Amino acid sequence: MALPEKLVTEFDELCSHYPERRSGLIMALHRCQEELGGWISPETMEAVAGYFEMEPVEVYGVASFYPMFRMTPPGEHVVSVCHNIACELRGAPDILKKVCEVTGASVHGTSSDGKFTVETVECQGACTTAPMFDLDGVYHEELTLESVEKILGGLS
Ligand code: FES
Repeated sequence: MALPEKLVTEFDELCSHYPERRSGLIMALHRCQEELGGWISPETMEAVAGYFEMEPVEVYGVASFYPMFRMTPPGEHVVSVCHNIACELRGAPDILKKVCEVTGASVHGTSSDGKFTVETVECQGACTTAPMFDLDGVYHEELTLESVEKILGGLS
């Protein structure tokens, strides 16, 4: 697989800011995940390794170390529930349970119909409006069990 030209152009620009090309790897993996189906496939890892002149196993080592990179394809919708301190203190455990109940997905799993992936994430910088989750890149804050039902129930 070849990286899309659009990404190659972005990576060229990105890497021009670093003394070493490979310093752009993490940003490049983020862009690949955004552009190439929401996960880092083995083919993507190989293509990225080729671009950065690294071994695929080195790219795998980085991608698999950070929990923000998905190693399997996500569902149609991704619910990322913050479980850091402010959200925890304001009810994140119950919110997470409710998210799993409404979506039919387990934590770090995908529902059997492929509609939802549920994951936990660290602080998203929305502590003052905790608890919160990110649904497909959009924050939902000051969540209640009722609002979770309303937000996600409308997508099921
Ligand atoms: S702790 Fe959840 S947004 Fe900061």
